[in-house]
Amino acid sequence: MTHARTYDHPVPRHPMIAPSLLSADFARLAEETARIADADWVHVDVMDAHFVPNLTLGEPVVKAIQAVSPVPLDCHLMITDPERWAPAYAELGAHNVTVHAEACTGDPRDLAKDLRAAGAKAGLALKPGTPLEDYLEVLRDFDTLLVMSVEPGFGGQSFMPEVLGKVREARRLVDTGHLDLLVEIDGGINADTIEAAAEAGVDMFVAGSAVYGAADPGAAIAGLRAQAARAIAP
Ligand code: DX5
Ligand code: ZN
Repeated sequence: MTHARTYDHPVPRHPMIAPSLLSADFARLAEETARIADADWVHVDVMDAHFVPNLTLGEPVVKAIQAVSPVPLDCHLMITDPERWAPAYAELGAHNVTVHAEACTGDPRDLAKDLRAAGAKAGLALKPGTPLEDYLEVLRDFDTLLVMSVEPGFGGQSFMPEVLGKVREARRLVDTGHLDLLVEIDGGINADTIEAAAEAGVDMFVAGSAVYGAADPGAAIAGLRAQAARAIAP
């Protein structure tokens, strides 16, 4: 006999914002994290020029950001061979470490175990074309599901609304107790797109250009958070 948790009323959601440093000034990373001190997480995009056609920063720079950031780090690893590289980000103190399902060569659950053992939350990212159904069992061992709403690699791209079906399904599985994780979305989130994403069920919104492209990043964070909260208000 199974005892799946079911909820008559879904747990109330509080939209959270994770500004992406990809749109920040890389020569001033300490100041750029200080400018978003009111954010929930700071999103750090690690790209290796293999998994995606772009190269950003790696462990030494993330370690330096970790030492100064007032906000917990959310590392999004767009890299091949995450089994080899990801645990180091957990060990240096990142709050959440997300790897791409498409990049895992072994069972992603083994990697989730390693990340958690090192003290981090474990995240699994899906590119826009990767089906959620393929990872339902695996996701039971993860803390975060990162739904990509652009092809990973660059900031400032247009939001792909077709991924919202995955968000809705993940939300339903969380609200019915079949999964226990945070639903995060990444790519093209701004004042025009955040409401649809919130309605579909996102908890954590990554926003790069919409936050760092604003004159006042703190006000942009507050504005996005309030907009998402209004969209899901009963
Ligand atoms: C893209 C990155 C995103 C990017 C989002 O591959 O994973 O985190 O910074 O930037 P915006 O919000 O500008 O789409
Ligand atoms: Zn990202």
